[in-house]
Amino acid sequence: MRILIFGASGRTGQVLDSVARQSGYEVLAPAHAECPLEQSRQLSDYVLASGAGVVVNCAAISGLEACAADPLQAHLVNAVAPAAMALACRHTGARFVHLSTDYVLDGRRAGVKDEGAKCRPINCYGESKREGELQTLEALPGAVVARVSWVCGNPARPSFIESTVMRALEGQPLAAVADKFSYPTAAEDIARAVLALAAGDYGGIVHLTSSGEPLSWWHCATLALQAAVEQGALAAAPPVQQQQLDGVPFFREPRPRHTAMDTTLLTAGLGIAMPTARQTISNAVEKLLRYRAAAAHVSQRFGTRGFTIDNLRLTN
Ligand SMILES: NC(=O)c1ccc[n+]([C@@H]2O[C@H](COP(=O)([O-])OP(=O)(O)OC[C@H]3O[C@@H](n4cnc5c(N)ncnc54)[C@H](OP(=O)(O)O)[C@@H]3O)[C@@H](O)[C@H]2O)c1
Repeated sequence: MRILIFGASGRTGQVLDSVARQSGYEVLAPAHAECPLEQSRQLSDYVLASGAGVVVNCAAISGLEACAADPLQAHLVNAVAPAAMALACRHTGARFVHLSTDYVLDGRRAGVKDEGAKCRPINCYGESKREGELQTLEALPGAVVARVSWVCGNPARPSFIESTVMRALEGQPLAAVADKFSYPTAAEDIARAVLALAAGDYGGIVHLTSSGEPLSWWHCATLALQAAVEQGALAAAPPVQQQQLDGVPFFREPRPRHTAMDTTLLTAGLGIAMPTARQTISNAVEKLLRYRAAAAHVSQRFGTRGFTIDNLRLTN
């Protein structure tokens, strides 16, 4: 079956592309320039002509500050585009899975939230993503809107978990926010769950994250360093300075504090297993270390010219 993936150059999309190929899909993955999502007509025509049985939208303007700097573009890409994809899928009969975010929640209350929790985004990114959820489901009620959080596990597109370990390996000082909580989620687990959701018949919102005790970025960073010690990359875990969310100077947009999402619907309801947050972090570190070792091997063997860590792809 053919799968059409938007945003296949991004952190999640890259991994979905690989996992879908490994799972036997024929992948169609238009680059940004080939199908700019703010061009609704071109986008609809692309989906209609694609012959895809499954369409997955991993594309977004996912930077909070970027969304605030250009709210119209954020609305066009994060809200209007998925609705156009959904409408086109209604015509073709394709299954549509759209990725959304925990940032549709306001995060004021501690604890995990299920799919029925009230949405009240507190920044432009969250507003555009919430609008995308609503417009997608209005255009195609059978679509799947999968909310993910803190995507990690793609060493070619490092998240804060990989960055923490890389900084520690370089002996740089470490600091992380200790008063904001959610779940890290591996791109590969998202990819496998997305394919399972596409193969099923569920329609609506579903929370797609790891599980366990909600973690702060600081807690994630310390667990990542512990994993690096256990896996032999560091002799001892260096200290990580605790930061307050309100004290991060380059965060110009507000971030919700408590956005850990309940995954009972995904796991118990739809039978799609997800690892715990701790296991997710350990797996991400293992993947990063293997990736770095492979990159070092290649540059030792062939020289570094023309070969950077970014153009090495490891899929598992
Ligand atoms: N990363 C996270 O921690 C996180 C957390 C919660 C939710 N999410 C959601 O998960 C999904 C995937 O996120 P991600 O972090 O993997 O994304 P990402 O790395 O930021 O990648 C975004 C993708 O969208 C493409 N794109 C952006 N603007 C476009 C446009 N105008 N036309 C066509 N393509 C465009 C990008 O292409 P170019 O790079 O070529 O521009 C890239 O392939 C998104 O829906 C995001 O909101 C992510």
